[in-house]
Amino acid sequence: MGQIFPPSANTLFRAAVVLTPLALLGAAYLAYLWTWSDFVTGANRIPAQPVPFSHKHHVSGLGIDCRYCHAAVEKSAFADLPSTHTCMTCHSQIWNQAAILEPVRESFRADKPIPWVRVNDLPGYVYFNHAIHVNKGVGCAVCHGPVDRMPMTWKSRSLYMKWCLDCHRDPAPFLRPREEVFNMEWKPGADGLAQGRELMQRYHIHAERMTDCTLCHR
Ligand code: HEC
Ligand code: HEC
Ligand code: HEC
Ligand code: HEC
Ligand code: HEC
Repeated sequence: MGQIFPPSANTLFRAAVVLTPLALLGAAYLAYLWTWSDFVTGANRIPAQPVPFSHKHHVSGLGIDCRYCHAAVEKSAFADLPSTHTCMTCHSQIWNQAAILEPVRESFRADKPIPWVRVNDLPGYVYFNHAIHVNKGVGCAVCHGPVDRMPMTWKSRSLYMKWCLDCHRDPAPFLRPREEVFNMEWKPGADGLAQGRELMQRYHIHAERMTDCTLCHR
């Protein structure tokens, strides 16, 4: 009776012992990359809007402050989207015949808000609050990216729980003086981390309770 397994089977078997776990690890890693890919998280995707509003033109170009349109961001949980009236303070005079702005004029005439499509949208069971972040020195750009350079608004971060917690565990590296929150050009200096630690104290930030489940799930 001949051999069932040729001598080369040994080599094949050894190779399989080594390669199978590697292949499994590789598959797990790909699955991980997939979960965090922009395709799944929705980051960097640009939703179509009823009017192609450009932060690049209005913020960088015309120098309008964020608070002119997102008036509640320092005082309430919700940052607020601008009312049609806010647009019309300028657009009843500027570009008041432009076809691109017809939905704005239509909304004004009908007294119905423009149905902006939400870019950042947490599930309903997560509690978020703008005022606290803004008042404790977390800049808009940290969570929303370079909004002032966006011709159309996109979501810059995954908004996954892990993303929130990565900062909540140790916010120091992400903090800036409160008066720089709206400054889209701000960069931490060479002593950034030391300044962050100092700001933690000055703003009474207590990292030890920032990972409590009930903070965000109430
Ligand atoms: C002239 C008015 C105006 C100004 C000034 C303005 N925005 Fe906006 N912003 C809007 C409008 C209109 C929308 C809704 C359409 C869109 O998403 O692009 C919006 C949407 C956003 C969104 C996405 C909201 C969502 O659905 O998740 C963010 C984030 C944002 N703005 C941040 C900023 C920041 C930061 C600044 C200052 C650097 C700023 N905006 C200045 C009008 C303005
Ligand atoms: C402070 C004045 C001002 C306000 C407030 C304002 N705009 Fe404008 N907007 C302008 C000017 C000026 C231009 C022309 C910009 C250019 O061509 O550089 C413009 C241009 C536009 C355009 C043409 C495309 C572009 O970006 O050039 C759209 C669309 C537009 N605005 C939408 C809006 C909407 C929607 C709002 C309200 C959320 C709004 N604007 C609020 C001044 C304003
Ligand atoms: C700590 C991260 C963080 C910071 C800092 C932050 N935002 Fe937001 N922003 C979010 C999240 C998360 C959402 C989605 C909230 C939701 O779906 O309930 C959001 C939503 C928004 C919206 C849509 C309306 C709303 O409140 O849901 C606007 C407009 C906005 N942000 C503007 C700003 C501006 C302007 C600043 C700076 C003054 C800022 N944000 C700072 C995380 C942040
Ligand atoms: C870049 C840093 C950073 C990110 C990202 C961040 N936070 Fe925070 N968050 C803070 C800081 C700083 C505080 C203030 C903590 C304190 O005062 O002790 C805070 C406080 C809070 C509070 C407490 C509000 C209150 O009423 O006491 C909630 C809720 C919260 N964050 C939710 C979230 C959620 C949800 C996300 C993700 C979608 C998030 N945060 C992302 C830095 C961050
Ligand atoms: C800083 C805010 C924050 C804290 C603290 C937090 N979460 Fe979350 N959690 C979120 C956000 C944002 C989401 C929605 C995004 C996502 O699914 O990652 C979420 C989603 C979840 C989900 C649904 C996940 C899914 O895959 O559908 C569960 C379950 C959950 N959290 C449990 C917890 C538990 C348990 C704790 C305490 C150990 C906790 N969370 C603390 C922000 C937070």
